[in-house]
Amino acid sequence: MNSTQWSMITTLLIFLLLLPYGNSIDSFASNQTIKDGDVLVSSRKLFALGFFSPGNSGKRYVGVWYNKVPEQTIVWVANRDNPVNDTSGLLAINGDGGLVIYGKDRKVPLWSANVTLSSPNNSMAKLLDTGNFVLFEKGSQRILWEGFDYPSNTMLPFMKIGLNRRSRFNWFLTSWKSLDDPGTGNCTYRIDPSGFPQLFLYKGQAPWWRGGSWIGHRWSGVPEMTPNFIFNISFVNNQDELSIMYGITNDSVFSRMVIDESGIVERSTWHEQVHQWIKFWSAPVEQCDNYGKCGPNSNCDPYNADQFECTCLPGFEPKSPHDWYLRDGSSGCIRKKGVSMCQNGEGFVKVPLVKAPDSSTARVNMSLSLKECEKECLRNCSCMAYSSTDDRPGGTGCVTWHGDLMDTRTYTNIGQDLYVRVDSIELAKQRNKSSGSLSNKGKLAISLASVLVFCCLVISIAYWSIKMRRKDKPRQNQFSFGATTPSIYLDDSPCRTDPDNTRLKSDLPFFDLSTISAATQNFSNSNRLGEGGFGPVYKGVLSSGTEIAVKRLCKNSGQGNEEFKNEVLLIAKLQHRNLVRILGYCVQDEEKMLIYEYLPNKSLDSFIFSETKRVFLDWTRRLEIICGIARGILYLHQDSRLRIIHRDLKASNVLLDASMNPKIADFGMARIFGTNQIEANTNRVVGTYGYMSPEYAMEGLFSVKSDVYSFGVLVLEIVSGKKNTGYYHDNPDSNLVGHVWDLWKEGRALEIIDTSLGESYPIGEVLRCIQIALLCVQELANDRPTMSTVVFMLGNDAVLPSPRKPAFLLKRSNYTSGDTSTGDANTINYVSCSVVEAR
Ligand SMILES: *[C@@H]1O[C@H](CO)[C@@H](O)[C@H](O)[C@H]1NC(C)=O
Ligand SMILES: *[C@@H]1O[C@H](CO)[C@@H](O)[C@H](O)[C@H]1NC(C)=O
Ligand SMILES: *[C@@H]1O[C@H](CO)[C@@H](O)[C@H](O)[C@H]1NC(C)=O
Ligand SMILES: *[C@@H]1O[C@H](CO)[C@@H](O)[C@H](O)[C@H]1NC(C)=O
Ligand SMILES: *[C@@H]1O[C@H](CO)[C@@H](O)[C@H](O)[C@H]1NC(C)=O
Ligand SMILES: *[C@@H]1O[C@H](CO)[C@@H](O)[C@H](O)[C@H]1NC(C)=O
Ligand SMILES: *[C@@H]1O[C@H](CO)[C@@H](O)[C@H](O)[C@H]1NC(C)=O
Ligand SMILES: *[C@@H]1O[C@H](CO)[C@@H](O)[C@H](O)[C@H]1NC(C)=O
Ligand SMILES: *[C@@H]1O[C@H](CO)[C@@H](O)[C@H](O)[C@H]1NC(C)=O
Ligand SMILES: *[C@@H]1O[C@H](CO)[C@@H](O)[C@H](O)[C@H]1NC(C)=O
Repeated sequence: MNSTQWSMITTLLIFLLLLPYGNSIDSFASNQTIKDGDVLVSSRKLFALGFFSPGNSGKRYVGVWYNKVPEQTIVWVANRDNPVNDTSGLLAINGDGGLVIYGKDRKVPLWSANVTLSSPNNSMAKLLDTGNFVLFEKGSQRILWEGFDYPSNTMLPFMKIGLNRRSRFNWFLTSWKSLDDPGTGNCTYRIDPSGFPQLFLYKGQAPWWRGGSWIGHRWSGVPEMTPNFIFNISFVNNQDELSIMYGITNDSVFSRMVIDESGIVERSTWHEQVHQWIKFWSAPVEQCDNYGKCGPNSNCDPYNADQFECTCLPGFEPKSPHDWYLRDGSSGCIRKKGVSMCQNGEGFVKVPLVKAPDSSTARVNMSLSLKECEKECLRNCSCMAYSSTDDRPGGTGCVTWHGDLMDTRTYTNIGQDLYVRVDSIELAKQRNKSSGSLSNKGKLAISLASVLVFCCLVISIAYWSIKMRRKDKPRQNQFSFGATTPSIYLDDSPCRTDPDNTRLKSDLPFFDLSTISAATQNFSNSNRLGEGGFGPVYKGVLSSGTEIAVKRLCKNSGQGNEEFKNEVLLIAKLQHRNLVRILGYCVQDEEKMLIYEYLPNKSLDSFIFSETKRVFLDWTRRLEIICGIARGILYLHQDSRLRIIHRDLKASNVLLDASMNPKIADFGMARIFGTNQIEANTNRVVGTYGYMSPEYAMEGLFSVKSDVYSFGVLVLEIVSGKKNTGYYHDNPDSNLVGHVWDLWKEGRALEIIDTSLGESYPIGEVLRCIQIALLCVQELANDRPTMSTVVFMLGNDAVLPSPRKPAFLLKRSNYTSGDTSTGDANTINYVSCSVVEAR
């Protein structure tokens, strides 16, 4: 092999890669072979198969890669452990072995698919558009062998992971040895069928990360998995098969899941605009994801802000208090000493929002309800905990754990309820902890002492709130959310915790209605700062002199006080320099209020749309504002654990602090108003005309891309100083986005720049911003970049793609029917749209 031959082969390869409509073939018969350098291309040119060398290796492997992705992305390898030394390789169909790969020695194959063909002359091999390489019988089209049965390190759409229960055939992913060696590595990603089947990532023989069991609509340990419009997931668990397959509804979206050499599983999507694979999920990502991080019978809670993340489950204590003290939780917890756990008045304590423990040895009965499950568990003294097998409302099925409870962890906002068996003493203790929760059957007499304790609590609450009011300065340290404090669950009756006691669990200050009322002069009109989509906002001054902004939510927020509180506590955890800080909340009677920091410069719209004030915003400042907003949204979308979609981004929801830093307001409102639950039960479209993406306005489909759309509109407004809506008074069908697009096409985009900027702006930077904005408002959500891409584009000089036609022809009349608009004439909230979260 000399260098001329080499370069010929490389040229041929590049030629075939670059020439999507060349004379490529997608199949070959037994009288043909595939030599090193030949490439099979699937019929719609999505995948290619041929010989390749990974990374810096000189060895040759037969593999499948994305034909349309310029960077070599191998998704499947045939001879991963049997490379060819040089370019003499040959792929052929052979009666004895089916598919075979030969090296220099054409007699003994290096690799074989191990199928015996009765009539090789009648067989063909073909690369399908799913990336599956199949060997089939020409006449009957019967598949004799397929590559999808032998996955490498990549799970493609329509590929299965799991097992065939009859043939014991197992489909699982195995990592490569290294970037240069696709050989069988140490990490595997598989479904373990024992007990209540679970998804596992193993490193060697040891479990490394547990995805948990399938709880009706997702893996217990993958809270990010929500109904999603690009995936069509089918989970099968019957006598014949246990498997999961991720279908994809749009096959021009390239999505793959890869397990890498270090044991990280990652799902990413190819972004045409930035020519990059963009990650959208991976595991394990944090300490608590590591299997058995806290040992047996414990709970790992990463949100235990400044404490140790390991806590013992109710009724357990650290096995080695010394290790525990040194923050090594691996020895776990043991049952508290001297307790009787058999038919001696035990009960269950609910540990909410968890990934349920390892269920490899658990017992499952799909026909039992949760109530029956409890009885079943109570009856059997070896039963340590139980839970439902289906996380959805009304879900049934019973899983019971016998023995140690391994690898439980807590999530913030989504998770299962686990019911842990505790002895009677512990049960009483838990009841004491959540005082006020009494069995409505009166099974337990209220002792005088407990009344006294309750009084003490009330007095101390009163004392604290008085003290707090004196101090007026809300505490700012992170609070620990109630998830770590188990709420009690008794024999028959789920006990209600007294709503007022929840505030004990949180450091987010609770403000008294009277305090707020005094601070805002009884919500006087002169204190009113404005009206948002969810209610009026008032300025207030606490007795200490601290200025606050009070958002008084509309009464019909669709949530109970308890849920409201939980949401606020979660949202208060979102802290970022480009988000308005929540200082506290108030919920009393019918009133629900959020207390925010007060920002003296009011909102962005009061600057950019004001003839007199917009001169204060020179270009540097505007660019800083744009970048700040982008970072704030990115945090909401990606970096925070909650993954908030704002849904009502607009200039009036961006506030400016004293040094003109932008801070996004009103985030998390969709959550508070209960509209983005997985069940999509509330079905309200919330948003503002002019900022709403077409798919959201028309179909109620919202995703992070709807926020990207709104951001694009906002950027155009900041650059031009003009409102998107009402841009042309004489022509209501046109708007700023449409106008900018028209100018952009003609190369006159600079004409839209705010005249108050004078001549003092760098033309290149401004044009870049306009181009990014146009990319954000493109008609198809899939075309729009993600916020991480936007932040990247804003911060770098990389070449930008050309924007396609934006969505700007929305007419108000299209979607005002059924409008129950609240206050702000531009904000609409209307019912009966399906809501799907794109995650
Ligand atoms: C392979 O065999 C088929 C018939 O089975 C024939 O049509 C074709 O021309 C042959 N191809 C080659 C390269 O010999
Ligand atoms: C590959 O190369 C090594 C060393 O050059 C040699 O020992 C080995 O036999 C070769 N294997 C094949 C299959 O050609
Ligand atoms: C075929 O069988 C050989 C020997 O049993 C084995 O080493 C090889 O991994 C098998 N190949 C496949 C693709 O299963
Ligand atoms: C398959 O084709 C080859 C040549 O094309 C021929 O020699 C051979 O007899 C055929 N085998 C069968 C089983 O038809
Ligand atoms: C695989 O595991 C073995 C033993 O656990 C270890 O010695 C080896 O280095 C690991 N290999 C890789 C590629 O991680
Ligand atoms: C989704 O999956 C189901 C069952 O596997 C199938 O019937 C349906 O056609 C799929 N839908 C799409 C859009 O792929
Ligand atoms: C599930 O529970 C039902 C009702 O108690 C019982 O009849 C059935 O045998 C149980 N199934 C299993 C597999 O234990
Ligand atoms: C309790 O559960 C264990 C573990 O599944 C089982 O072996 C045992 O037979 C059960 N005992 C009773 C009394 O049902
Ligand atoms: C629960 O509280 C009561 C009254 O305060 C007390 O007498 C009792 O000992 C407590 N029980 C436990 C298990 O701590
Ligand atoms: C599928 O995705 C491509 C690229 O992201 C997009 O252009 C196309 O419109 C999408 N098709 C559908 C039916 O959503």
